[in-house]
Amino acid sequence: MEITLRPYKISDVDDFLKYAGNENVTRFTRWNTCTSKEEALSYIKEFCIPHPYCRSICIHDSSIGFLMIIPQSGDNKCRAILGYALAAEYWGQGIVPRALRMAISEGFKEFPHVVRLEATVVVENKASQRVLDKLGFHKEGILRKYTFNKGQVKDLVMYSLLSTDPILPNS
Ligand SMILES: CC(C)(COP(=O)(O)OP(=O)(O)OC[C@H]1O[C@@H](n2cnc3c(N)ncnc32)[C@H](O)[C@@H]1OP(=O)(O)O)[C@@H](O)C(=O)NCCC(=O)NCCS
Repeated sequence: MEITLRPYKISDVDDFLKYAGNENVTRFTRWNTCTSKEEALSYIKEFCIPHPYCRSICIHDSSIGFLMIIPQSGDNKCRAILGYALAAEYWGQGIVPRALRMAISEGFKEFPHVVRLEATVVVENKASQRVLDKLGFHKEGILRKYTFNKGQVKDLVMYSLLSTDPILPNS
């Protein structure tokens, strides 16, 4: 199945709500489940569209997920943080790994100061860790009791990929 990445459009709102409004999708994300079309619309308008790299993962131009690269500033401008989520009906088909391969090469070109991409994953989120392992991210360690996630303090796994690291191909 061919996937594309593109910036968000206002007309993505209904598709966006299908995944951002699903508690199975948001279980381990740092953001809360979207509860209405109005909320989805303001998130797209105020966050996704102005964001330097927030992309809709699309099939036939319909949004089925999102992917973000968040460049840091000041002394941290050497790194950027990754975020991603996919509509549950598409899980397990290698879509996010493919989308990340596209975005990572674009991201390093678009943000020349960035030499490190990092992702922190709730320790129970095995699917997300598997995605990063498959791409060749380095598992650097566990950040113990690092953050609240849906009301509970969680351990996070810190992953990174440097601009000089190889991105592993589809296996
Ligand atoms: C995590 C997520 C992005 C994965 O995307 P995807 O396109 O389904 O990824 P893949 O198709 O590569 O499938 C996930 C991999 O994890 C594996 N996996 C899934 N659940 C697992 C579990 N409980 N334990 C171990 N491995 C698991 C799958 O078998 C697959 O590996 P494989 O290709 O070796 O068989 C998607 O499940 C999602 O959107 N989850 C909700 C949002 C989220 O967690 N975002 C990340 C926050 S850090």
